[in-house]
Amino acid sequence: MNLHIAVLSGDGIGPEVTQQSIKILQAIAEKYQHNFIFEEALVGAIAIDKTGNPLPQKTLDTCLNADAILFGAIGDPKYDNNPDAKVRPEQGLLALRKALGLYANIRPVKAYDALLDKSPLKRHIIQDTDIVIYRELTSGIYFGEKSRNEAGTVASDLCTYSKEEIERITHLAFKAAQKRNKKVTLVDKANVLETSRLWRKVVSEIAVQYPGTTLEFLFVDNAAMQIVLNPSQFDVILTENMFGDIISDEASIIGGSIGLLASASIGEKYALFEPIHGSYPQATGRGIANPIASILSAAMLLDHFNLLEEATMIRKAVAHAIELEICTPDLNASGDYSTDNVGTFIEEYIADTEAIHINCGNIRVGQSTII
Ligand code: IPM
Ligand code: MN
Repeated sequence: MNLHIAVLSGDGIGPEVTQQSIKILQAIAEKYQHNFIFEEALVGAIAIDKTGNPLPQKTLDTCLNADAILFGAIGDPKYDNNPDAKVRPEQGLLALRKALGLYANIRPVKAYDALLDKSPLKRHIIQDTDIVIYRELTSGIYFGEKSRNEAGTVASDLCTYSKEEIERITHLAFKAAQKRNKKVTLVDKANVLETSRLWRKVVSEIAVQYPGTTLEFLFVDNAAMQIVLNPSQFDVILTENMFGDIISDEASIIGGSIGLLASASIGEKYALFEPIHGSYPQATGRGIANPIASILSAAMLLDHFNLLEEATMIRKAVAHAIELEICTPDLNASGDYSTDNVGTFIEEYIADTEAIHINCGNIRVGQSTII
């Protein structure tokens, strides 16, 4: 398959983790005879520094002409503590989501057996967790009208949803549930918010079109508790933009590191793949950032184009790295494996699975030349 992939690696650790997923996609292209072409473009703080705009027109054009987008991370502390900043790196990502119509953000959360003791949550609580969060991504409070009065003393962010916006992501969530454990949990705040009451109505109407799949409702405050109390009760979580943002960071605790969580943002025509973590500025350039979230986002990219064997290969390689504890310090503090080491191990596993298996014993005792 020929794929033209726009690479928007962004700020902080974005470029170093994205570099690893490009390496992995190249290994896949080589092994399975595909042709992946990568085209880099600026986004975020680095784009502001170079062009004054967090999403330059040239970047948007590159994305509009690509088959898929691989995104790194954005954000820079110099904007975070300046409430008066007129341009912000995050605006680049939000504008991109809107311009490409990426209305569904899909975030899988899994507990790897090999990492059950890495999570601050107890092993028996997180064991067997397998959730996928469907977060609405182009509406709600993120995109509603914003205002501040002239004196600067009152501010407002409007939260709006239309029936159509709820319907399209709900169908995707139910289709996913049909192929999984057949349960959708709508997370909302219907006891307080009018938008949430509309979500309940619209989602309930759609649920009847998917017999055999159950629909449950949970208020977001309760959901936030249930996710860390009993996460294996969930299959597909469907929710609006901001609730999804918050609970997906919370759910990352289950996996043992936010550096493991990948995501796909899908629209009618375009698709973007990115780790859920931020730009982690303190780690920039130190070789300690976990590349797995980005690498698993590349696997989701392959899923999207129905390259299922290829995506499975990446996941197998990642699972193997995790089993052998070839992980960055967030998961293996004493291992001394860098971002690049982890990427290279996964790359070489894909290129030559047999050789890696033979070498496993050596890798464990640090004698391997593979990494
Ligand atoms: C995410 C991020 C973004 C969001 C930021 C960077 C705008 O936190 O993708 O979860 O809030 O959606
Ligand atoms: Mn977030």
